[in-house]
Amino acid sequence: MAPDEKELERKMDALARLAGGVAHDMNNMLGAIEGYATLSQRGLQPSSQLHSDMEEIRKAVARASSLTKRLTLFSSRQPAVKITVELPPLLEGLSARLGAGLPQEIRIERSFEPGLPEVQGDPQRLERLFSNLLLNAAGAMPAGGTIGLAAAEAGGFVKVSVSDHGQGMPPEVAEHLFEPFFTTKPKGKGAGLGLAEAYGIARQHGGRIEVSTAGGRGSEFSVFLPLPGKAVPS
Ligand SMILES: Nc1ncnc2c1ncn2[C@@H]1O[C@H](COP(=O)(O)OP(=O)(O)OP(=O)(O)O)[C@@H](O)[C@H]1O
Ligand SMILES: [Mg+2]
Repeated sequence: MAPDEKELERKMDALARLAGGVAHDMNNMLGAIEGYATLSQRGLQPSSQLHSDMEEIRKAVARASSLTKRLTLFSSRQPAVKITVELPPLLEGLSARLGAGLPQEIRIERSFEPGLPEVQGDPQRLERLFSNLLLNAAGAMPAGGTIGLAAAEAGGFVKVSVSDHGQGMPPEVAEHLFEPFFTTKPKGKGAGLGLAEAYGIARQHGGRIEVSTAGGRGSEFSVFLPLPGKAVPS
């Protein structure tokens, strides 16, 4: 592994530990706020102002909980379950579902190597990983275009690539891509957690993500998932 990859891993592990610790404590506090708000609401007239104020508190707690859930997801060291996963049908289903929600000008072109070996993993988390990459690819092509989704065997790994023909990334963006909360999207549009999640999930599966990008010509994110029996310790 290249020294800067090791450095990135160390940095990401530290950030993930920090985020996971904060999320865990925050979850406990949110549980208390939610519990007391619910209890207080019970003694109030549903038509009262205080009742609707309590409802606002509960909605804010729900939003905060979904954020802490994302933080816990990428900072955990193990996938929740580990079963045999056939990637082509998983990718086929996911891209069909996501594609239906994307603008018509965006097409997903799939290419899966026949007889691709299975991997061991958590299908829900793997879907989440690939869906974050596909959504980013779509976001990089506001005027539309083709997203490439390919899967093939590559030296002890299954390699899944998501490529786009968007604007690419300048080095100052590429450098921070996987950091939690790093985003170039306007406020309210992106949390900056998609790639941190993707990175964390790849690591939980003993894999890694490689990025290549060329300004103005697009980007390619390649996820390497180890074949059973060939996993390298993460
Ligand atoms: N395919 C891509 N092309 C160009 N830039 C990208 C691409 N994928 C990611 N980026 C850049 O990396 C940043 C971080 O991506 P990430 O998915 O972590 O967060 P986000 O998309 O901004 O927000 P979220 O995924 O949480 O909704 C993006 O804001 C964007 O600047
Ligand atoms: Mg994203």
